[in-house]
Amino acid sequence: MENPILKRYAVRKYQPTAVAVADVDQLVAAFEAAPCGMHQVADMEGAVITDPKLRDAVEDASNNACYGAPLLFAIATKKDSQFGERDASAAAENVMVQAAALGLGSVYVMSGALAVNGHPDLLKQIGVDDGYQLTVIVAVGKAAEESPAPDRSNRYKVVRN
Ligand SMILES: Cc1cc2nc3c(=O)[nH]c(=O)nc-3n(C[C@H](O)[C@H](O)[C@H](O)COP(=O)(O)O)c2cc1C
Repeated sequence: MENPILKRYAVRKYQPTAVAVADVDQLVAAFEAAPCGMHQVADMEGAVITDPKLRDAVEDASNNACYGAPLLFAIATKKDSQFGERDASAAAENVMVQAAALGLGSVYVMSGALAVNGHPDLLKQIGVDDGYQLTVIVAVGKAAEESPAPDRSNRYKVVRN
């Protein structure tokens, strides 16, 4: 199998087909396996949104930032957490790499997550506990168009000492 880390790229067009329950289980397992700062496991929680009505409400509240993906993996962190953004980013990458391994597309959505924080009733519906806020939403689904990942082998400066 192609390395899912290299296979992953930001997908911003999705088929509406629901993600299979077995695949959802694997995405949740990938989230659960994520590292967290100083083992403060209570600093982060996840919510998988597949119910079409709730998904649409989140899409609206995010100002259509979730690209119509059929599954939204919302990652919330404690408002006063020292590690929240880092924990959520590490977990989001786990979910995105697992999605790639399953042949699914994904994208890290920060702007939409921040917009949804302005809708406290919706946060409650999603299952976000008081004192937590969304840090990232990982949009997941079958890509509308399959294409290989771009070559990113020299994207960042890397110094080898
Ligand atoms: C911290 C962070 C915030 C991001 N926020 C968004 C976002 O709000 N909307 C979006 O479409 N993509 C977002 N992305 C995805 C990036 O645009 C994308 O990862 C980047 O352009 C590199 O492309 P690649 O993922 O295909 O390698 C975000 C990525 C990161 C790491």
